Amino acid sequence: MNEASVPTGPKVVGVIGGGRMGAGIAQVFAALGARVVVVESGEEAALDARRRVADGLAKAADRGKLADPPETVLERVAVAGAVDDLPAHAELVVEAVPERPESKVEVLTRAEAVVGDETVLASNTSSLSITELGAPLNRPERFLGMHFFNPVPASELVEVVTPSAVAGDAVERVRGWVRALGKTDVVVRDSPGFATSRLGVMLGLEAIRMLEEGVADAEAIDNAMELGYRHPMGPLRSTDLVGLDVRLAIAEHLHSTLGERFAPPQLLRDKVAAGELGRKVGTGFHDWS
Ligand SMILES: NC(=O)c1ccc[n+]([C@@H]2O[C@H](COP(=O)([O-])OP(=O)(O)OC[C@H]3O[C@@H](n4cnc5c(N)ncnc54)[C@H](O)[C@@H]3O)[C@@H](O)[C@H]2O)c1
Repeated sequence: MNEASVPTGPKVVGVIGGGRMGAGIAQVFAALGARVVVVESGEEAALDARRRVADGLAKAADRGKLADPPETVLERVAVAGAVDDLPAHAELVVEAVPERPESKVEVLTRAEAVVGDETVLASNTSSLSITELGAPLNRPERFLGMHFFNPVPASELVEVVTPSAVAGDAVERVRGWVRALGKTDVVVRDSPGFATSRLGVMLGLEAIRMLEEGVADAEAIDNAMELGYRHPMGPLRSTDLVGLDVRLAIAEHLHSTLGERFAPPQLLRDKVAAGELGRKVGTGFHDWS
């Protein structure tokens, strides 16, 4: 690749919602050299978000993953308590508030009124329809999905989710920024579950059905995929990690949009009802205590 074709990152970025994902997104763009403004709901939450970014930077520095000292990178990160404080000249604004359509639409429409015409707005939703989130916007051609994975600094993938209204140049700018982060983009047409959740959940549901039918035990099913197909993590272990409740919610959404093949197995419902939600509580399909 010659010098001219090396993708460069955006110079100014806004992030709405500085929780687990938003703090990670702010961290990686700041590490790349961007000025980042993280918007939270109120001043106190904004300070918490700043602490999360600082913690993430300290970890990255410990692992030798930061080119600049963490305090230098942190100086590029400002926090604010309201969407109106987004920088008008931001090239990119990523929304990462909780997975509730009404909250997302509210902050996105507000953000659109604050930023310039050329700013690309992106949602980090893992399951909502980008087309529906973008419907109330005045510039749907500047809106798409940028689906980062957790933990953001370490994950290699960003799913770029494209509704039919988005302009090609907005997609290309976003793809360049993803590559500038050292990550790989996959472009996916806006559809339920995008590519990752749709395939990942399907594999997980089938593994649960196999467990229900007594085909093999959880360890054997996971080993089969880890050793036989070189998946880094088997489908049941991965369901434990994501959380059985989270997986059930996504499966219900895909069931209602894509049909019977995503019907959640009874065993998944039973485990969620019993509070066996996976690693976060110590037990799911495996014992994590
Ligand atoms: N956690 C994951 O593994 C993961 C992975 C990919 C995508 N996502 C998606 O990313 C989004 C955020 O998830 P998360 O895990 O970071 O959630 P989180 O709860 O950790 O963070 C959400 C943050 O948004 C803030 N917030 C709420 N309302 C706000 C508002 N009106 N304005 C500004 N900030 C507001 C909250 O205070 C909180 O800090 C969701 O859409 C989720 O589906 C999550």
